[in-house]
Amino acid sequence: MEFVRVLYASKATNIYPDLKQDLLTILDTAVDFNSRNDITGVLYYGHGYFVQCLEGRKSKVDELFYQKILKDDRHKNCEILFYQNCDFGLFKHWNMKFAPINKRLSDFFLEHHRDDFNPFLLTTDSISSFITLLAAEYATEPYAFELND
Ligand SMILES: Cc1cc2nc3c(=O)[nH]c(=O)nc-3n(C[C@H](O)[C@H](O)[C@H](O)COP(=O)(O)O)c2cc1C
Repeated sequence: MEFVRVLYASKATNIYPDLKQDLLTILDTAVDFNSRNDITGVLYYGHGYFVQCLEGRKSKVDELFYQKILKDDRHKNCEILFYQNCDFGLFKHWNMKFAPINKRLSDFFLEHHRDDFNPFLLTTDSISSFITLLAAEYATEPYAFELND
């Protein structure tokens, strides 16, 4: 069985006033679909950008990304920044964790890209460190808004 890890970035279509409701609806659907399909990951939002890491069976992750997420008009400019086979899950306790960006993520962008959080700035040089940071965040802060129950 082939397992993959995917990281993509996108821009939220609605910054205000529906974003909070949109996020809750997205999470609800995500937790339901992802748990039924053994997909795990994290979703961050900040400054109008989403960045999401998804892990699971290639066929399931591809189906989710290409058939659902890519067609979702709550965001635009969806771009895959990282796509690799993997043999272990970094986020395996959560079918989807959602968190607003925090200081550590902001600091990462300042340090690597001399700018505010903007996942489209990630490059082949910085992306692995960014995923490592997401995994570290996930390990130390395993809650936020996830609706895993
Ligand atoms: C930024 C973002 C992340 C999303 N992440 C997921 C996810 O991880 N799992 C999921 O099932 N849906 C996710 N969705 C919602 C899907 O795009 C889609 O609306 C949902 O799966 C329902 O699809 P359907 O109407 O084809 O059943 C996300 C949407 C956005 C905007």
